[in-house]
Amino acid sequence: MFGAMLLSSIVLSLLLSVAAQGPSIDRQIAFLVNSSSPQINYPTDFTQNIVPKPIHSHNDYWRQVPLLTALSLGVASVEADVWLFNGTLFVGHELAALTPNRTFSSLYVEPLMQILAMQNPKDDFTVNQTGINGVFDMAGSIPLQLLVDIKTDGVETLPFVQAQLEPLRARGYLTTFTNGTLRESAITVVGTGNTPLDPVKALEPRDFFFDAPLNQLTDPSLNTTWGPGLSPLASVDWNIAVGWSGIGNISATQLGNLTQFVNDAHSLGIRARYWDLPGWPISARTAIWETLILSGVDWLNADDLEAAANF
Ligand SMILES: *[C@@H]1O[C@H](CO)[C@@H](O)[C@H](O)[C@H]1NC(C)=O
Ligand SMILES: *[C@@H]1O[C@H](CO)[C@@H](O)[C@H](O)[C@H]1NC(C)=O
Ligand SMILES: *[C@@H]1O[C@H](CO)[C@@H](O)[C@H](O)[C@H]1NC(C)=O
Ligand SMILES: *[C@@H]1O[C@H](CO)[C@@H](O)[C@H](O)[C@H]1NC(C)=O
Ligand SMILES: *[C@@H]1O[C@H](CO)[C@@H](O)[C@H](O)[C@H]1NC(C)=O
Ligand SMILES: *[C@@H]1O[C@H](CO)[C@@H](O)[C@H](O)[C@H]1NC(C)=O
Ligand SMILES: *[C@@H]1O[C@H](CO)[C@@H](O)[C@H](O)[C@H]1NC(C)=O
Ligand SMILES: *[C@@H]1O[C@H](CO)[C@@H](O)[C@H](O)[C@H]1NC(C)=O
Repeated sequence: MFGAMLLSSIVLSLLLSVAAQGPSIDRQIAFLVNSSSPQINYPTDFTQNIVPKPIHSHNDYWRQVPLLTALSLGVASVEADVWLFNGTLFVGHELAALTPNRTFSSLYVEPLMQILAMQNPKDDFTVNQTGINGVFDMAGSIPLQLLVDIKTDGVETLPFVQAQLEPLRARGYLTTFTNGTLRESAITVVGTGNTPLDPVKALEPRDFFFDAPLNQLTDPSLNTTWGPGLSPLASVDWNIAVGWSGIGNISATQLGNLTQFVNDAHSLGIRARYWDLPGWPISARTAIWETLILSGVDWLNADDLEAAANF
């Protein structure tokens, strides 16, 4: 009622003062956006209009504002390198980059708890809702992939990562594999780097997964039956598995490897990622990105998130 009156008075005043600043509908929109009307906001608008994209933010914590910068661009996978010292997990690429204030909890777990609390409001409208909304307002069922690259001893560090994830686990925010069934939730946590395979295999329920070796999924010597319940993701160093510089034509062998490994992953229900992609010259990077997408690769590993998001 009030809204209708407000609108009609705006319409009237705008019609009376036929403006030189463009159509009055634009001015009405500007007026309403500028107002503090409760009609212009909704509870889960933190990531309003952001289209999620299958991009992996390599070394995400290098950005001045980790996590949020990636989310603002719709990047649906982020990576934190973690180091265990005195019971705390610090985040950084190398020892010289660590500070007491940049921890796995402060940079990732706490902000994710805040964002997911906003995306999952508890009110009269949601009382009967059982599912969890993810971080992306536009596509609440798309999980954010959180890669945890363990830098210190894997067996020793893994339990600390598990413990730090407890607030997210307690709210049901973690994708979980229980008794043979995989249930996706807001965040899928995948261990890489020094993450030890056997302790991850032993987890039941499992809400911490293992980044499988993309070029060894059919290698029987690893004694492992790979699948999305253990490894929703498989990755390999581009330079070891394919090796094309992006300049000139990719060779038949290189293209054969690229597609073979992606197909191996897909036939097991696993998503594929190549890391350590050449980033320069830009023309070479573009050629590689195009070739990766044509090959069906699932995650585009990127340092320059804006370039990848606008690709
Ligand atoms: C926006 O609101 C402020 C404060 O109420 C006001 O001074 C300003 O003129 C408004 N701007 C527009 C474009 O309506
Ligand atoms: C770990 O704790 C010991 C003893 O309190 C302290 O001397 C050392 O500086 C700490 N190391 C780090 C990396 O915080
Ligand atoms: C930064 O870390 C120090 C040492 O752990 C702590 O005392 C301080 O409260 C932290 N500051 C912030 C802003 O988190
Ligand atoms: C929730 O379920 C109750 C019981 O079935 C029903 O009365 C109520 O209208 C539902 N609320 C919403 C918002 O769906
Ligand atoms: C696990 O799955 C099996 C077969 O689907 C079922 O019989 C069993 O009850 C389940 N156990 C639990 C703890 O859910
Ligand atoms: C696989 O199993 C064989 C036989 O038990 C063992 O010798 C080998 O070390 C295992 N390989 C791995 C990678 O665990
Ligand atoms: C293709 O993959 C095989 C098996 O992993 C590897 O030995 C070979 O070096 C790869 N080829 C290229 C061009 O990287
Ligand atoms: C690269 O491939 C294109 C298209 O197949 C071909 O026309 C061109 O001759 C190739 N260039 C080289 C240097 O092999």
